[in-house]
Amino acid sequence: MTKKQLTITQPDDWHLHLRDGDALNSVAPFTARQFARAIIMPNLNPPVTTVVQAVEYLDHILAAVDGTNFEPLMTLYLTDNTPAEEIIAARKSCFIKALKLYPAGATTNSDAGVTNIRHCDAALDEMQKCGLPLLVHGEATGPEVDVFDREKVFIDKTLQPLTQRFPELKIVFEHITTKEAADFVIQSSDNVAATITPQHLLLNRNALFQGGLQPHNYCLPVLKRDTHQHALLEVIRSGHHKFFLGTDSAPHTKHKKESACGCAGIFSAHAAIEIYAMIFEQQNVLDKLEAFASFNGPDFYGLPRNSKTITLIKEDWPIPDEYPLGNESLVPFLAGQTIGWKLAE
Ligand code: NCD
Ligand code: ZN
Ligand code: ZN
Repeated sequence: MTKKQLTITQPDDWHLHLRDGDALNSVAPFTARQFARAIIMPNLNPPVTTVVQAVEYLDHILAAVDGTNFEPLMTLYLTDNTPAEEIIAARKSCFIKALKLYPAGATTNSDAGVTNIRHCDAALDEMQKCGLPLLVHGEATGPEVDVFDREKVFIDKTLQPLTQRFPELKIVFEHITTKEAADFVIQSSDNVAATITPQHLLLNRNALFQGGLQPHNYCLPVLKRDTHQHALLEVIRSGHHKFFLGTDSAPHTKHKKESACGCAGIFSAHAAIEIYAMIFEQQNVLDKLEAFASFNGPDFYGLPRNSKTITLIKEDWPIPDEYPLGNESLVPFLAGQTIGWKLAE
């Protein structure tokens, strides 16, 4: 009997952390085997804030995926001091596709992030003019804000006013986790879109505490209650064109995750498209996977859709407990579990 198969246009990952150095060499091939392109997050230490730094980082990535056709889509890390000239230079570079807003202190390597969005007005104004999108880690950071409310507070205090002040600015609300975020994107103009990770579709906050503390399910924004998970699932079932694939695959060593003060981030690049396929199948909308994974992203960014295809085969395979990360190891998303889709080689 022939196995069930699904062939779709090759997908892209619109939110990816590749790190640098040995870690980059360990993780980049996982992405290159399935995705044609990926938006590369700039939160290195030190962050990628200039075109010159981005060129250097791009070279490292290209070396790590040598022999493949993978195309890294670079981003710059927005700071309080990003000058309008850097935006113009980024636009001219052609390989820089967006700027990333990290509210200072919101997540991994965000210390150099933005303290007050008003400090970025000159840069945002230039981005609006030249059509470079702003990608946002949408969480309010004040110590008084409950960690589960950070996304909602960010919408009210920062994002909603921002879309009013810069109505033509293209914005991607990254890794959305709440019904409020989904509703905000749907109600906004076509200049506002969002990425959704596999973990926020598959899990809710119970997964952080199932049988004991589960550091490998910890990422930011943190998993929310099941009503929010269900709102995100409803979005993918609806096939809405403003939502697209962004894994937020964020490798950290096992040692740094299983620690007294564990890092935020889930690594999913080992099986990203397979995990999304499993989720879409569970929701009975496998027919909507291709638009989410391969059409909506490039359409929003104004880039061509990919011309190649990939084929997924309905076949069980075990996800390993660990993969190498430089000379250490990482624990992948769904470690030790069986997954029912496999990318054909
Ligand atoms: C990301 C990382 O490790 O760089 N971590 C995460 O939990 N998502 C940063 C981010 O995307 O916020
Ligand atoms: Zn983030
Ligand atoms: Zn991220």
